[in-house]
Amino acid sequence: MTAAFDDWMKTVQAGAEQDLASYLPGPELLPLKLHQAMRYALLGGGKRVRPLLVYAAGALFGADAEALSRAAAALEMIHAYSLVHDDMPCMDDDALRRGKPTVHVAYDEATALLVGDALQSQAFLVLAEARSLPPARQLAMLRLLAQAAGSAGMCGGQAIDLDSVGLSLTLEQLEQMHQLKTGALLRASVVLGALAGKELEPAELDALNDYARAIGLAFQVVDDVLDATADSATLGKTAGKDAADNKPTYVSILGLEPSRALAEKLRLDAHAALAPFGEKAARLRELADLIVQRKA
Ligand code: IPE
Ligand code: IPE
Ligand code: MG
Ligand code: MG
Ligand code: MG
Repeated sequence: MTAAFDDWMKTVQAGAEQDLASYLPGPELLPLKLHQAMRYALLGGGKRVRPLLVYAAGALFGADAEALSRAAAALEMIHAYSLVHDDMPCMDDDALRRGKPTVHVAYDEATALLVGDALQSQAFLVLAEARSLPPARQLAMLRLLAQAAGSAGMCGGQAIDLDSVGLSLTLEQLEQMHQLKTGALLRASVVLGALAGKELEPAELDALNDYARAIGLAFQVVDDVLDATADSATLGKTAGKDAADNKPTYVSILGLEPSRALAEKLRLDAHAALAPFGEKAARLRELADLIVQRKA
């Protein structure tokens, strides 16, 4: 990782933090508990990988700052909502997230449910209120976000995940689950970032989709590897949970080393997909490296 990439990453992360805070209802507004819990779930934690992807893809086409800020915030709000619900007792039942007690532990279950609901609505509101985008492109972005978040995307993947406890999936089924539960929002991050810049030519969209499919899958392969190999303090969430919960993962089905090798292959696939963009895609290339080589 170069120093320039590290600086860029810190700048985007800090900017996203400020933007997210400003796009949320203030903590002094009624209902206080809900608004405070939304801030608890969204602010002060997380790697902000989805905003980083939005900005890196936007950089390919000189996207406007307001559009990027809103697309990045919308993606991170949907992601944070998915984590709040993922951790609830009816799903993965986890007490630790981003190094803090999960929302249902710090508050209560009903609040966690509502925090997720409200963050999801807020995401669409933030994107719908962008003023700098041509309406047709804005509508296309809202549509893509809805698809990626819903039953054909993240929620669908989460449903398959919960139905798969104790089962041994085929590699094809496992890839499908991962592409939906995690890949869909990461792919949407890349495409929304690019659309914030311009309407895409079919060849540009194909190349971005190839990149995004590779990093989308790689991200969850690495998440599975880290669950099996890192500790809770490093991850900021409970380690070893997949095996304890009898979830099919890349580690349980392929084994640890083949999973690592697959992630590395996907990193190279991601780089190859970016070839048509040349130097302009440097940040996207470095993000593929980060996603595969991360330790948390
Ligand atoms: C964790 O996502 C859940 C998955 C989708 C695998 P991240 O690893 O991006 O979590 P944060 O946002 O950094 O906390
Ligand atoms: C969750 O996958 C993906 C989401 C849609 C939130 P995991 O259940 O593996 O995520 P972690 O490991 O709890 O972060
Ligand atoms: Mg889960
Ligand atoms: Mg989980
Ligand atoms: Mg996991």
